[in-house]
Amino acid sequence: MSERQYDIVVFGATGFTGGLTAEYLAAHVPDGCRWALAGRNTTRLEAVRRRLSSIDPACADLPLLQADVTDTASLRTVAESARVVVTTVGPYLNYGEPLVAACAEAGTDYVDLTGEPEFVDRMYLAHHETARRTGARLVHACGLDSIPYDLGAYFTVGQLPDDAPTTVDAQIRANAEFSGGTFASALTAFSRARHMTDVAKRRRRADPRPADREIRTPSGPPTRDSETGRWLVPMPTLDPQIVARSAATLPRYGTSFTYRQSAAMKRLTTLVATGAGLGVLAVAAQIPPVRSALGKIRKPGDGPSAQRRARSWFQVRFTGEAGGQRVVTEVAGGDPGYDETAKMLSESALCLAFDELPDTAGQVTTAVAMGDSLVTRLQNAGLRIRVLDE
Ligand SMILES: NC(=O)c1ccc[n+]([C@@H]2O[C@H](COP(=O)([O-])OP(=O)(O)OC[C@H]3O[C@@H](n4cnc5c(N)ncnc54)[C@H](OP(=O)(O)O)[C@@H]3O)[C@@H](O)[C@H]2O)c1
Repeated sequence: MSERQYDIVVFGATGFTGGLTAEYLAAHVPDGCRWALAGRNTTRLEAVRRRLSSIDPACADLPLLQADVTDTASLRTVAESARVVVTTVGPYLNYGEPLVAACAEAGTDYVDLTGEPEFVDRMYLAHHETARRTGARLVHACGLDSIPYDLGAYFTVGQLPDDAPTTVDAQIRANAEFSGGTFASALTAFSRARHMTDVAKRRRRADPRPADREIRTPSGPPTRDSETGRWLVPMPTLDPQIVARSAATLPRYGTSFTYRQSAAMKRLTTLVATGAGLGVLAVAAQIPPVRSALGKIRKPGDGPSAQRRARSWFQVRFTGEAGGQRVVTEVAGGDPGYDETAKMLSESALCLAFDELPDTAGQVTTAVAMGDSLVTRLQNAGLRIRVLDE
């Protein structure tokens, strides 16, 4: 692997989140890191490179690799030239698989930003075994989906005994806007609810939970938190599945682990409006012409401005209980979907490229592949991952 030409290649830097990721790397790669940008349009890549050279003049020489998801050979070249490939080319259900396949075949570590459960399950079924054979670590969901939850739960159980039934309750609050790419991914996922359920079933058959552990991720109707008075709405996102996979693999979660995740809302009116909005979107996404009209509301490449992102924030508050002990922790920071996501994705890539990590391969979660090293990196990079005094 050390003979590969690049330590890290970023695929998708011409897009909104990929651009922020490339900017983060330009400011933070260690001396001697060999990295490159890949994309389908060289003129756009050159424009990104010019922007990066104002952050670090050395970026003026960044190599540019021409690659398109419809050109398998170009992806093979990218995968074979890199130790770690970072991709922000999404919706991943539409564009993601050829690069996962190329990285699995080439034994190349891979990180992405997907929040699409169907994509993760499909990639497990199609490429996990190949990656285990070649040694590639395929780490999905290295952004807001699902690092705060996966590492937050990992950090929380680390404060508790591992020989007693453990519960972790995560509540997220945030104030932020989304990009064109995120909106497109959400529409794609909504339009494929039945496929998602079918693929999840196939995965459960191929990847059963360990028989010697009980892992639960219950959800139910919205409830009111008696401590904070907030309305808690269970989130049917990828995150609980990722946390459950970490819990199925690592001893620190104990043999009986329960994880709940909800969005916390102050007002009942916000809860009703959010539920109604998502309901309408889910129904509208089933009708192809309406879906394509909705897709034009936020165009690819669009995203919240730097000023809007500077006002954005998120906090995930975890309450963990085991063996009569209770701990409250948080993962919190600035703009969750883009600035902090670019940081989380970049630090994941740097962690895989340069840190001493447990020996893993195949589709692995961030907690399993990188655990403490990534927690430390993100803390050093300014994300708050800490125990709260309560
Ligand atoms: N889960 C999270 O926490 C999180 C947070 C942020 C974003 N995301 C996800 O990240 C993805 C990107 O979001 P975004 O807002 O950055 O999207 P975007 O601005 O639309 O960027 C998409 C990128 O994909 C590239 N692309 C499209 N088709 C391609 C092809 N055939 N070959 C090569 N490259 C191609 C585009 O290149 P061109 O410039 O050449 O068009 C562009 O660089 C989405 O799936 C979004 O859901 C997830």
